[in-house]
Amino acid sequence: MDAPNTRILPYNAHNTAEAAALIAAGQCVAVPTETVYGLAADATDGAAVAGVYAAKGRPSFNPLIVHVLDVAAAKKLAAFDARAEALAAAFWPGPLTLVLPLKPSSGIASLVTAGLETIAIRVPAHRAMRALLEACGKPLAAPSANASGTISPTRVEHVMASLTDRIPLVIDDGPTRQGIESTIVREVFGMTRILRHGPITGAQVLAALSTGKRKVDRFDTGADAPETVEAPGQLSSHYAPRKPLRIDAPRAAEDEWMIGFGPTPGDDTLSASGNLTEAATRLFDLLHRADASDLPKIAVAPVPDDGIGEAINDRLRRAAHRD
Ligand code: TXA
Ligand code: MG
Repeated sequence: MDAPNTRILPYNAHNTAEAAALIAAGQCVAVPTETVYGLAADATDGAAVAGVYAAKGRPSFNPLIVHVLDVAAAKKLAAFDARAEALAAAFWPGPLTLVLPLKPSSGIASLVTAGLETIAIRVPAHRAMRALLEACGKPLAAPSANASGTISPTRVEHVMASLTDRIPLVIDDGPTRQGIESTIVREVFGMTRILRHGPITGAQVLAALSTGKRKVDRFDTGADAPETVEAPGQLSSHYAPRKPLRIDAPRAAEDEWMIGFGPTPGDDTLSASGNLTEAATRLFDLLHRADASDLPKIAVAPVPDDGIGEAINDRLRRAAHRD
């Protein structure tokens, strides 16, 4: 990765067009939302999304929030039930993120959802993010614009403190209004659950669900609440293959589907040329394919721990250590 000099430009139509051109070219740009500054990239471009992880120095792949302009755009990506519709109607545009079943036709890069069958979506209210979404005409994946493990970026200085020379551009529109990240509500299988507390309270979510004829039957308020629905891969916040997986494998055993990398060949390869960005973009698709193969086990070639390779290895190690 080359290290660009990070420019700070004020929010206006001209600079929004400049940011959109960078995003169209596969780069990521920091832009304010009403909660915190986000680091935005084209959510349909796996390599661009790999660039977001690389810039943030995230040692692992957590799924990212996808931002869109309106409910119609959100419905192209995810399945809405009546409860999701009620929440969207009540809080969008605004600081609410909905985790919903992902539509297979979404076109969203698998690195955005980290291989999950669900997607986190938000319709932001901030003029700078909305103008960028309009100029790009694409859903934008945007985690908070800070390096992994640092405070939430509510001002340009916070963004610059951790991302200087890691991204080409920050759009400056002053401090953000809310200052904390959006409330995340998962709405899957008719069960509503708050995954992250934020500017919209649990009571507000409950009130929105209880209006009119809709009755709230099942509602969890927090991460400690017991699961009442089990469906591997759908409710967990991390995808892992169902089959046993062996890492650092120089070659496959007879009962293993081999995922190669660089010089190590396989049934599939993360990247024949040994390119780690390409490997990151292919990782979750290849794990799904390995899970669907007719062999009972999976082996993965050694992947170097450099740069985004660290996040790849983190995900592979977790997959290998599951029982
Ligand atoms: O306010 C916000 O939400 C900001 C602004 C920029 O929009 N964004 C933000 O993104 O906070 P990030 O990446 O820092 O946090 C995303 C959260 C993570 O905790 C992730 O685990 C969760 O969303 N998440 C994303 N997709 C998910 C999914 N399919 N299932 C469960 N959790 C998901
Ligand atoms: Mg964050």
